[in-house]
Amino acid sequence: MFTKGRNRLMRFLYGFVLKPIIFPFDPEDMHNLFLGVGKFLGKFSLTRWKTRLWFGYSNKMLEQTVLGINFKNPVGLAAGFDKNAELTQIMPSVGFGFEEVGSVTGYPCEGNKRPRLWRLTQSRGYVVYYGLKNNGSEEISERLKNKFRKDSPCEKFPIGVSVAMTNCEENLDTSMAAADYAKAFEAFADIGSYTTVNISCPNAQGGQPFTEPIKLDVLLSKLDAIETKKPIFVKMSPDKTIDEVDAILDVLRRHRVHGIICSNLTKQKNNPKVLENNLPGVGGISGKPLQDLSDDLLSYIYRREVLTPQVTADGQARKFILIGCGGIFSAEDAYKKIRSGATLVQLITGMIFEGPQLISEINLGLVELLRRDGFSNISQAIGADYK
Ligand SMILES: Cc1cc2nc3c(=O)[nH]c(=O)nc-3n(C[C@H](O)[C@H](O)[C@H](O)COP(=O)(O)O)c2cc1C
Repeated sequence: MFTKGRNRLMRFLYGFVLKPIIFPFDPEDMHNLFLGVGKFLGKFSLTRWKTRLWFGYSNKMLEQTVLGINFKNPVGLAAGFDKNAELTQIMPSVGFGFEEVGSVTGYPCEGNKRPRLWRLTQSRGYVVYYGLKNNGSEEISERLKNKFRKDSPCEKFPIGVSVAMTNCEENLDTSMAAADYAKAFEAFADIGSYTTVNISCPNAQGGQPFTEPIKLDVLLSKLDAIETKKPIFVKMSPDKTIDEVDAILDVLRRHRVHGIICSNLTKQKNNPKVLENNLPGVGGISGKPLQDLSDDLLSYIYRREVLTPQVTADGQARKFILIGCGGIFSAEDAYKKIRSGATLVQLITGMIFEGPQLISEINLGLVELLRRDGFSNISQAIGADYK
């Protein structure tokens, strides 16, 4: 009762007080403002405790251990919001079950020129054209290492690290680009809970070369040679044809890949869910216009790879863990992805449009949906639509 009433109050304050003030401003400035506030709140135990009081929620039904990692709930912050790993102290208090930092590239990268973030108010999404802006693998790995010290507020909070290639002309050469991924990958080989190889950024020079099977094979072979105990995820684009997805999956199965994130941003500007005219010619779209595309990709991969696991060359059947991402604005949106095969979910856009209490609303709503369907733990709902 307390959590529901508190969430309603926070939703009202965000929707009717804060959002009308911040939404008219430039979205990148507002993103930076959120980062500043989050960093400040994460610094002190009192502010972390107060944040938890306003936004936290926990329930045993949402807890699961996946690939050896303990998740308090299945809702994570997707890559791109906390590019430089500055919010890891506060995110557990905001109610997230995990977060993915980055994407981090081998070398520091300024990203594309501003403007590079546009808000689609009617469609409830963003056009994102940051171009992998981040402070680089050396600085960010050093920062994250300190966060995992004993007694840190995020010591037990799962943190994934998304790695990508530096957005520069040199990386138009595939072997240079693969070496750049390897530099970032190696910097985090024993820092963080899992690593995501982001092959689907729509905003880097040279496009998405590693979605081509032969190049992906080269990249993953290079990463296979780097020692790490962490599970590896690969983040997919929602814009590939079925044949292209099949070819990518065939490569993933031959390498040290434990899971797949469905999905990154879409480049499909003629998407019927986009209500605005005159979109910028660059960038990828997040939020509601992406939802069906990422849901379709997720359920396709679940049916192809998990329900009927393909046997690899060494005779092993590999079942990927799937993370659903794209257009989650409610518990129902998250539950749909879980019932379609996602073990975990991630979001960004929903939190900005609905407010930070959305995380607790989703978790509370998931518990109600699990009870409605007779499940005692979230893990029983994974892929339930196909059972
Ligand atoms: C501002 C912004 C920056 C992003 N940057 C990255 C990034 O650096 N790496 C990445 O893998 N995905 C990035 N993404 C994509 C998100 O991780 C996610 O896949 C996508 O936004 C769909 O989730 P959503 O609809 O809940 O926002 C970014 C998204 C947004 C909105």
